[in-house]
Amino acid sequence: MCGIIGILGTRPAAPLLVDALRRLEYRGYDSAGVATIHDGRLDRRRAVGKLDALAAVLDANPIDGASGIGHTRWATHGAPTEANAHPHAAARVAVVHNGIIENFRELRAELESRGHRFATQTDTETIVHLTADFLDKGLAPKDAAFAAIDRLRGAFALCFLFDGEPDLMVAARRGSPLAIGYGEGEMFVGSDALALAPLTARISYLEEGDRAVLTREGVTIWNEDGVIANRPVKRVDVSAALVEKGEHKHFMAKEIYEQPTVSGYTLGHHLSADRQRVENEAEEIDFNEIDRIVMVACGTAYYACAVAKWWFEKFARIPVEIDVASEFRYREPPLSDRDAALFVSQSGETADTLAALRFAAQHVRHVIGVVNVPESSIARESGVVLPILAGPEIGVASTKAFTCQLLTLASLAILAGRKRGVIDAAEEARLVGHLCEAPRLISAALAAAPAMEKAAREIARARDVLYLGRGAMFPMALEGALKLKEISYIHAEGYAAGEMKHGPIALVDPAVPVVVMAPRDALFEKTVSNMQEVMARGGKVVLIADAAGVAEGGDGIAASVEMPECDPLIAPVVYAVPAQLLAYYAAAELGKDVDQPRNLAKSVTVE
Ligand code: G6P
Repeated sequence: MCGIIGILGTRPAAPLLVDALRRLEYRGYDSAGVATIHDGRLDRRRAVGKLDALAAVLDANPIDGASGIGHTRWATHGAPTEANAHPHAAARVAVVHNGIIENFRELRAELESRGHRFATQTDTETIVHLTADFLDKGLAPKDAAFAAIDRLRGAFALCFLFDGEPDLMVAARRGSPLAIGYGEGEMFVGSDALALAPLTARISYLEEGDRAVLTREGVTIWNEDGVIANRPVKRVDVSAALVEKGEHKHFMAKEIYEQPTVSGYTLGHHLSADRQRVENEAEEIDFNEIDRIVMVACGTAYYACAVAKWWFEKFARIPVEIDVASEFRYREPPLSDRDAALFVSQSGETADTLAALRFAAQHVRHVIGVVNVPESSIARESGVVLPILAGPEIGVASTKAFTCQLLTLASLAILAGRKRGVIDAAEEARLVGHLCEAPRLISAALAAAPAMEKAAREIARARDVLYLGRGAMFPMALEGALKLKEISYIHAEGYAAGEMKHGPIALVDPAVPVVVMAPRDALFEKTVSNMQEVMARGGKVVLIADAAGVAEGGDGIAASVEMPECDPLIAPVVYAVPAQLLAYYAAAELGKDVDQPRNLAKSVTVE
């Protein structure tokens, strides 16, 4: 949540800051702002809403200067107003912040009692006043910033800029990610490698508790004990092109259509070259020493865990518990050294998932991270890291990361099954063969786009929508409903088809469309019965099924959308596609902001 950027450059900073903020906008878009040093003096521009609003402010009222900081905000403390927009500034210092300062109320009271006047409702403003207070006491800028940081509790990535100091920037990380970028006579700070991509490919990542002082010549980093630290500089090849929309109208559409390609990358990583077996980083885990897997995640990643539970229990006969991270971390459930804990996160930075990981790491035998961002905190703190290789995902509603998470988890379930002796080499080869069909099947599912677009026009008119599924299609129903509500703001519920008559059937009437996800599998007939129950009460059904399913279940339904025939193993990956398309087209039909839905942010680094 919130993206930050800092530049000590040789060119006008403002356009570069705005450009970098565009790549960070997925982290929040309630307001944006920049501050630069021009003729030795701090100056800033801020605007409520998307980056375009800030760009318009800068067009009308440009700011000069080659040193600057910028911020795109997801509001936590204080409404999304211009006053509450970052950078925050006091007499001689400006600050951008990602995170939450937990003790800001007591700090603010203390500072107000000493005469500081606050202009905002934010937690961040306490940092600038605290720093200004130390500057007033005669501390040098670096020491004043460090002294202020010493007083902060909570989570932060920070970047400071000082009046009269065009060749100085202070940065700090605790709980929120921050990268340092190395240029030729230029230095940069950014929330992630994407922000820095066109500026430099040479990047180092600050560790927890690190503080950094930058000039155009380079950076000095201190670790949390105050000892100078060497953080390796890596080449990070995040092509800026990967964060462009290309021919598509929205990032979400681009990312949906990338799935045949990126699923191939995922499989290429997790399967052997001869495509006979799973071969990945989890080879080192002895699954016979494990009695249970506990899977924890948030949002869409949680639904990937819910699907994976099926696979692990079926193919590896290993009990699986799943939980959302915000509940798990405070439940502090009993864990043992015969448990493995698995954390799924696109960003690898979700605050609740990271906290859950830190709790589990003290108790369990293995901590497994399934992540998209390889240098993320969750990746760095996991014992075994399974990359999903979906590439940068910009649309706030997760699509390609979800299908790549599914393929990674399916691979792991197969590997665990082999290690536990539940499946033999022939069965492993058969299952792997089905996984390898993912790129082709996803392409075939994408061919249903026109049918989904048509169905979406109806869905867009509804106030409430129900999604039903059984077995592994139950979590897919939950995910389908989440996608729809996230981007179209239509209320949607996912339900286990068999649970319908225990409540939600009371909602059914001709105005409530019911989306049924039902491949022609062993549970199909039962789902069709539930569908009949809906139709008998005037409910309008949209059936998503394979040809056999559509043929058998198709009578009396409002619309059917045909999926390619596939093995049950891979069906959740395939059926994710129509769910994504339905939400996408419904939101587009309603003219909603598909990539940046209201109130949401992609990387939730606050709890
Ligand atoms: C936010 C995003 C979702 C995502 C969830 C978990 O809510 O909007 O798309 O599924 O966070 O994020 P993570 O990065 O941990 O997968």
